[in-house]
Amino acid sequence: MPATRQETTKTPSPTKDMAAKAVFSNERTVHAPRLTLPISLRPNTRLKMDGLDFLSKLPESAIPVAFLDPQYRGVLEKLSYGNEGKSRERRRSALEQMPEAMIAEFVQGIDRVLMPSGHLFLWVDKFHLCQGVRPWLEGTNLEIVDLMTWDKGTFGMGYRTRRRAEHCIVLQRRPVRAKGVWKVHNITDVVLEKVSKREHPHAKPIELQGRLISAVSNEGDFVIDPAAGSFSVLDAALQNNRKFLGCDLNG
Ligand SMILES: C[S@@+](CC[C@H](N)C(=O)[O-])C[C@H]1O[C@@H](n2cnc3c(N)ncnc32)[C@H](O)[C@@H]1O
Repeated sequence: MPATRQETTKTPSPTKDMAAKAVFSNERTVHAPRLTLPISLRPNTRLKMDGLDFLSKLPESAIPVAFLDPQYRGVLEKLSYGNEGKSRERRRSALEQMPEAMIAEFVQGIDRVLMPSGHLFLWVDKFHLCQGVRPWLEGTNLEIVDLMTWDKGTFGMGYRTRRRAEHCIVLQRRPVRAKGVWKVHNITDVVLEKVSKREHPHAKPIELQGRLISAVSNEGDFVIDPAAGSFSVLDAALQNNRKFLGCDLNG
């Protein structure tokens, strides 16, 4: 009967309706622009250079995903065990330290090169997590959109509790949105992954970083890391068919 037919066509499909209203999706509808790079910035290599210099050579508003794992003195200063530069702390304190103002400059440099709705994964220890990273974000277009905890599966130092976790603050350049941008939805906010520290005392988990890269970029996109340490992000990017651009003072 026509009346029934009319009624049927008017009733919205629940799945279609839900998809339209959903605030997240399994697809990316944003696409990074094509990059023209200076010859000095060779993709998929371990560049030896200053990270701020590296960032200044990148075009603005072009990169979908960046990682920053600053070499801060926070832990060394707060947990002064008297063994800095000795025994097991030797490799850690031999690395070039970044003053707070320099970390802010790195964040500002990344803000400049991220495309709209692009992401910065910022590794922090628990001191910076408690004290807050807001001063580093001043004047940028970055907003905190999530937080992840990496359970290293091994424990380190601590006057009270022994450190077993590190944290990754998820920042997004405005406009902030998940739908059409973040496409992987099975990443939990606490992740256990063991990592060998043989190459670098601060090496971060490759698999977790790879999953984050997959969530916020497309195959063939560039992923950057201006203070790459062991270049774990290079491995994570290549394993997920992305291109890597990044450097470390030590190469
Ligand atoms: C915490 S580590 C990064 C570890 C890295 N995420 C990994 O998975 O191996 C920080 C690195 O920043 C580097 N670094 C310090 N100052 C720098 C600068 N101005 N430019 C580039 N790299 C710098 C240090 O040499 C160190 O390797």
